[in-house]
Amino acid sequence: MKWVKGNKTIEISVEELRELTAKYTKVHIDLGTGDGRFVYEAALRDQNTLYIGVDPVERQLREYSVKSVRKGLGNAMFLVSSLENLPATLAELAGKVSVILPWGSLLGQIVNPSQEAVNKLSALLKPSGELEIILGYSPDLEPSESDRLELPDLSQEYVENVIVRAFETPSAGMKKDMLEIFPKEKLTDIGSNWAKKLAFGKPRQIYRLTLIKTP
Ligand SMILES: C[S@@+](CC[C@H](N)C(=O)[O-])C[C@H]1O[C@@H](n2cnc3c(N)ncnc32)[C@H](O)[C@@H]1O
Repeated sequence: MKWVKGNKTIEISVEELRELTAKYTKVHIDLGTGDGRFVYEAALRDQNTLYIGVDPVERQLREYSVKSVRKGLGNAMFLVSSLENLPATLAELAGKVSVILPWGSLLGQIVNPSQEAVNKLSALLKPSGELEIILGYSPDLEPSESDRLELPDLSQEYVENVIVRAFETPSAGMKKDMLEIFPKEKLTDIGSNWAKKLAFGKPRQIYRLTLIKTP
């Protein structure tokens, strides 16, 4: 896999990645991490957890990777990949996976869930691990992208009946923990750049869903 490490991009095998994770009490994968600010801030606060930000756009990962290296944050890692391309050998790597304000094909695969995508997300987690998804798109505010991805209007019922149900199939093996409407004024607490942008943008409904992998 491609690892954006400061100013360099190097290759790391899944075996080497697993060796690295052994030094930490917990592994948290942030999928669709964007510029990786969330990973950087979280890694600064909690040095016992290895935070791995994953995004298909290599150049986006550079800024916070360089900052992490300058701060000596060995527990912040940035990998170039996507939900579609994650190696199956990453199975059960993480105690937590987050997907914060996804967009593009990542959003499409969660909101119109395919069993393959849902199983892939679940497979990243250790038994009893947690998946956190924060959704905040609005077909009214983003009409062209919503059309392109054929996104439905989000509602609590839609999330329950379609998204949660896909994760609760026996093959995905997850159970809903919590579904809440996330207060806009708390978006800045998340620590990602998109969350910050939306906090100061037009009003919109934000949903926060957490699911636990059944042991
Ligand atoms: C709206 S940004 C949010 C970034 C970050 N989570 C934040 O809150 O600042 C959505 C991100 O999802 C990434 N993305 C799109 N499709 C993806 C996929 N299939 N797998 C992983 N990431 C994807 C994009 O490259 C983009 O960086």
